[in-house]
Amino acid sequence: APPDHIAEALLAWFDVHGRHDLPWQHPRSAYRVWVAEIMLQQTQVATVVDYFNAFMSRFQNIHALAAADSDAVMAHWAGLGYYARARNLHAAAKAVVADHDGRMPDTVEALMTLPGIGRSTAGAIVAQAFERWAPILDGNAKRVIARLAAIQATPGTAAYEKSLWRLAEQYTPHERITDYTQAIMDLGATLCTRRNPRCDSCPLASACLARRQGLQARIPAPRKR
Ligand code: ADE
Repeated sequence: APPDHIAEALLAWFDVHGRHDLPWQHPRSAYRVWVAEIMLQQTQVATVVDYFNAFMSRFQNIHALAAADSDAVMAHWAGLGYYARARNLHAAAKAVVADHDGRMPDTVEALMTLPGIGRSTAGAIVAQAFERWAPILDGNAKRVIARLAAIQATPGTAAYEKSLWRLAEQYTPHERITDYTQAIMDLGATLCTRRNPRCDSCPLASACLARRQGLQARIPAPRKR
């Protein structure tokens, strides 16, 4: 199926079944989306929500975060794990205040110069906070795309990453970029799950090459070890 049909079907599904009441969606700002995306890198939405709200109450904007003691930042991260994320977040806040007058950069390239922000997180910020075109490829999007295109290369290899980024670019629509970005993550988190994907409810089932070949349980392949 052509990429614009895929985006359309995904967006129609998102309107009914997607997550529309996440705290970083209301209000949406670059600071809020950024903090949420860092928390979401290794932690599920259900856990992140309470931490996110507490973090925002204590550090209401990037200036407050940049000026905070690292002990206070770490205390608000306690329980989330992967503490390098909090140290990077704090360092990035200081860099944005020092070098960008407190305004989050609005391009993937500039965001990627900040500690803790890789290509997918940068894309998620550009798409969700600035409503500008950028692909994402977090764990959820990777699985959805690998199955849609029946990519059989081994996850983690350069060839796999390269082909998935290329497909992510092709599928990402120029309309409704913010919703599309949330939609592909929601589909991966709720239907196109690692185990027992619920293809019977999936809006992309008829376009999915893995499903057509009966390979949805075997894609993505296990990582080499
Ligand atoms: N994982 C990473 N970012 C996410 C988001 N915005 N919503 C749900 N899961 C995510």
